[in-house]
Amino acid sequence: MVRIAPSMLSADFLHLEKDVETVNAHADIFHLDIMDGVFVPNISYGFPVVEAIARKARKPMDAHLMIIRPEKYIGRFAEAGADMLSFHLNATDTPSEALAMVKDAGMQAGLAINPDIPVESLFKYLHECDFVLIMSVFAGFGGQKFIETTYSRIETVKNEIMRSGLSCLVEVDGGISPANARSLADAGADILVAGSSVFGASDPAAAILSLRQ
Ligand code: DX5
Ligand code: ZN
Repeated sequence: MVRIAPSMLSADFLHLEKDVETVNAHADIFHLDIMDGVFVPNISYGFPVVEAIARKARKPMDAHLMIIRPEKYIGRFAEAGADMLSFHLNATDTPSEALAMVKDAGMQAGLAINPDIPVESLFKYLHECDFVLIMSVFAGFGGQKFIETTYSRIETVKNEIMRSGLSCLVEVDGGISPANARSLADAGADILVAGSSVFGASDPAAAILSLRQ
């Protein structure tokens, strides 16, 4: 069954505990978007927020690093409570070493790619990944429009995972709503990230439920 990972970027930061409890009660994973204003043209939040969420989280925490030199912060995210950590393929010169660092720090390791990077560039790293993160918008902002070519990208990477007999999961992130969730799961997505369609809804719990169905 597909897992739902609400993006806390769209949460209500004045009432974060309320939104954390919604995820605890109804979703599967906390998706934490970390932006540095360099790898992407936006800045999100950092360790104080991650640590605050960790104090209340009863579901795994998934740090999506949109930062240059991710290696520098892998240990800090593990200490802050992350259970899964992904970084972007083109944010480092040494992806294999960084993936090994993530695992050595006790987290599940993921490689992320933006929509303009061929999915085939992930292939040689799949055996080193616990999951891959296929962006269905360009990393940097919540609330963007879903890019339709994502379906075939998911199918391509999923086929390669199956062909190689690997257990790597496929996470998809950006512009996901109840309108496209079913098609994404059918294409092979294992984890669906959703920000604005969950926390922008009048009833976030119901939105999570309809993403699942
Ligand atoms: C975009 C982030 C996403 C984003 C998803 O850079 O990686 O996780 O917050 O938000 P929505 O679901 O609103 O596209
Ligand atoms: Zn994300």
